[in-house]
Amino acid sequence: MPPSTSREESKRKINALRKEKNAVILAHYYQDEEIQDIADFIGDSLELSRKAAETKAEVIVFCGVHFMAETAKIINPNKIVLIPDLDAGCSLADDCPEEEFKKFKESYPDHYVVSYINCSAEIKALSDLICTSSNAVDLIKKIPIDVPIIFAPDKNLGRWVENQTGRKLNLWQGSCIVHETFSEEALLKLKLEHQDSEIIAHPECTELLLSYSDFIGSTSKLLKHIQESSLKKFIVLTEPGIIHQMRIKEPSKYFYDVPGIDGCSCNSCPHMRLNTIEKIIKCLESLQPRLEIDEETSKKALKPIKKMLELSN
Ligand code: 13P
Ligand code: SF4
Repeated sequence: MPPSTSREESKRKINALRKEKNAVILAHYYQDEEIQDIADFIGDSLELSRKAAETKAEVIVFCGVHFMAETAKIINPNKIVLIPDLDAGCSLADDCPEEEFKKFKESYPDHYVVSYINCSAEIKALSDLICTSSNAVDLIKKIPIDVPIIFAPDKNLGRWVENQTGRKLNLWQGSCIVHETFSEEALLKLKLEHQDSEIIAHPECTELLLSYSDFIGSTSKLLKHIQESSLKKFIVLTEPGIIHQMRIKEPSKYFYDVPGIDGCSCNSCPHMRLNTIEKIIKCLESLQPRLEIDEETSKKALKPIKKMLELSN
C-alpha cells in the first residue's frame, strides 16, 4: 500500500473515532508533521492550556509531553485526558524533583514562586504562579518590585527573563536537553552561508546561542515573527517540528534547523517524538493511557495555573 493511502486510512480512522468518542486532539508544534496535520488545534504551551480550558469535548487527546497533558487534566479533572505515549516526559521537568525543590523553597520563605509550565504537578502545587515562555516576561513585570522571586525550573529562560525585565530572580538550575544541544559551530556556518538570514531562538537556549539571535520568543511568537518579517530566510534555534507550520504559513520562505553538537539529530525532542499516529489510534480506541493526578495535588496545582490564565488574558 503506498504510504499516502495508509496515511489517508489513518486519518479516516481518527476522524471516525474522534467523532464517536467526542474527543478533541490537541498537538504541540514539536509533534511529527502527520500528527500536526490531523490535530484539531496546534499551539504552544499557553495556547494549548487555553484550549484545554475552553473545550466542550469529553475526551482530550494531548499530543505533547506529560506535563502538558497533566496541565490539561488539572484544568479538567472530570474529563478523560489521554496521552498517546505515557513515557513522553520532559528533561526539564525531570530536572526539578519535588523534595529538592521543597528544600530550596524553604530556604527562601519570603519568596514568591513562579514556575515555568514545564514542571510536574507537584512543583506546580508548590508554586504561586505558573508561566509559559510566551507570557513569562509580562507576568514577572506584574509582580510588585519589592517581592523577591524564585523562578523554576529553567535557568536559561530565567536568565533571559531577568535581562528582559531587569528583575533579579532566584533561579533553579534546570535546563532542557534539546535547547542546550545546538552546535555553535553549525550555527555560525549556517549564518555564513546565509548572511541574509535572521537567527530566531526559543528562550530555553543557552545564553551564548541567544547572544547570536535576532529574535527570541516562544514557539508561537517565532511563528508569528516569520510571518511579519520582510526577510526570506530564518535559522531556527528550537525543536525543528515547528518548521512544518512555518512552511505552511510561509511557503516561499526558507527555514534552516541547527544540528546538535557532533552533527547529531538530537535537536529533535526525544520525548515529544514518542507519540505516533498509530498510538493516537490505539489510545482513541481504548481510551488509555489516561492522565491521573491525586486530588489534593491537582487542587493545589490548579490555583497558580488559573492565576496565569487570568493574568495573561
Ligand atoms: P512553548 O511554550 O514555546 O510551546 O515551549 C514549550 C517547550 O517545551 C519548549 O521546549
Ligand atoms: Fe521538555 Fe525540552 Fe522536550 Fe520542551 S524540548 S518538552 S523542554 S525536553
